Amino acid sequence: MRWIALAALLVLMPACAQPAVQRTPEEAVAHAQTLTPADARLADLYAQSCKNCHTVLDTGAPLSGDAGAWEARWKKGVPALVTSTVSGLGGMPAGGQCFSCTADDYEALIRFMAGRER
Ligand code: HEC
Repeated sequence: MRWIALAALLVLMPACAQPAVQRTPEEAVAHAQTLTPADARLADLYAQSCKNCHTVLDTGAPLSGDAGAWEARWKKGVPALVTSTVSGLGGMPAGGQCFSCTADDYEALIRFMAGRER
């Protein structure tokens, strides 16, 4: 139950959206678990694939909403990030386990996880 309270607290904190926030790994996981894409179809794709790793510390995946973890990766540029997702990278299987994602879906999911939605 404690993580639920923590997650609720993080949602309520306006500072949550600011990249400069320092979180412990546990806080970063709790924060990641509160996030869902606003678009219902993307939210489904996310829940079935990316979320299974990108909200779990032990997978080594950059956590959703963890600005620090995404900063260096973001510098590669969106096309390169889409390519790594489609081809697979390290512990991430090709396609990120999303079997119906289009290139646009990948871009939108990456922007969402990196906290760089337009
Ligand atoms: C089975 C676990 C798993 C799933 C499912 C998964 N990822 Fe990943 N992802 C990882 C791991 C682990 C890394 C870090 C890989 C590395 O740097 O070695 C990663 C890294 C990334 C990166 C950074 C790539 C780079 O070039 O630095 C992007 C972008 C990404 N994932 C997008 C996605 C998207 C979008 C989805 C859902 C469609 C997804 N991932 C699903 C495990 C996963």
